[in-house]
Amino acid sequence: MRRISIIGTGMAKAGKVVTNDDLSKIVDTNDEWITTRTGIRERRFCDEGESTYSMSEEAARKAIEAAGISSDDISAVVCATVSARYITPSLSCVVQEKLHLKEDIPVLDVNAACSGFIYGLEVIRGLLDGNNGKYGLVIGCEQLSKLMDMTDRSTCVLFGDGAGAAVVELTENTTYASILGAKGGHEITVEGAGPEVSKIRMDGKEVFKFATGAIPKCIKGLQDKSGVSMDDVSQIVCHQANARIIDHCVKKLKANPDKFYKNMDRYGNTSAASVPMALDELVHQGKVKDGERVMLVGFGGGLTWAGVLIEFRNKQIA
Ligand code: ACO
Repeated sequence: MRRISIIGTGMAKAGKVVTNDDLSKIVDTNDEWITTRTGIRERRFCDEGESTYSMSEEAARKAIEAAGISSDDISAVVCATVSARYITPSLSCVVQEKLHLKEDIPVLDVNAACSGFIYGLEVIRGLLDGNNGKYGLVIGCEQLSKLMDMTDRSTCVLFGDGAGAAVVELTENTTYASILGAKGGHEITVEGAGPEVSKIRMDGKEVFKFATGAIPKCIKGLQDKSGVSMDDVSQIVCHQANARIIDHCVKKLKANPDKFYKNMDRYGNTSAASVPMALDELVHQGKVKDGERVMLVGFGGGLTWAGVLIEFRNKQIA
């Protein structure tokens, strides 16, 4: 099967900034507890009029523009989300409509929780390869604020809203490897009965243990599959659930902490959106440039895990 590289990225921030101090007025918590246990200082919630639909559209438009292609060139769309308002039409179909994308292309959502964007990359690779498409659009987008129980301090301080997107190109000569898995588990759940009763529940300690095993497993698996060492990778973009999870993995792997980007201090855990949002920031900060390789690593509800080793190619960002 042919490979893919990322040629453009984009993101959309939700409008309302919610600080730890803001949350301490709603539940019995404080900035010190949240910051030391998670690394999160603030997160963003959707403002009036914002939703998974508006954020996905914005992130997708930016990614298409950054890739230097036209929306007519898109040959497949995959959105990763667990929080779109409608089960059908899918978030992807709404993006297709808003961006006036072609009709004769595959368009679908995937649910792999926080690993969703990375699962989405593998799905789009198959769709492009099978249908002889050249460019695909992958989006990770969540509006978790509407799924949060604002009386449960053990979860409501962790999550936020946002979207990230990437345009990928099917190509022969590029570095690419993937590793995907799941072990079946109910440690993180969202009941599928609508926002009135659908609330995120999580066994934080169990998820912490799972995550600190999953990240090193993905990184080592990608190295074994590709023969590419960490020295030849610019950045390792992990799901931004908790700074302590990433720090723990850096220690375990004896890795260079500068290669493990963190932005959960400003966005919290945005589930499927966290990896593409972090990647977009890295590209804009000049830390990921044309021809460089990144590892994207996710873990989350399911319990799923996923990693890809992928090249970023964009001559504008050399
Ligand atoms: N503010 C103040 N105190 C709190 C808060 C809060 N927001 N939340 C819990 N506490 C209290 C608890 O009640 C408990 O008090 P007690 O000792 O009197 O009973 C104490 O703090 C310790 O609680 P723990 O749950 O044991 O805290 P822990 O150190 O495990 O940290 C955390 C909790 C941050 C959730 C951690 O377990 C974690 O990060 N787990 C991983 C979660 C994760 O990564 N989830 C996302 C992945 S999947 C996805 O993204 C959907």
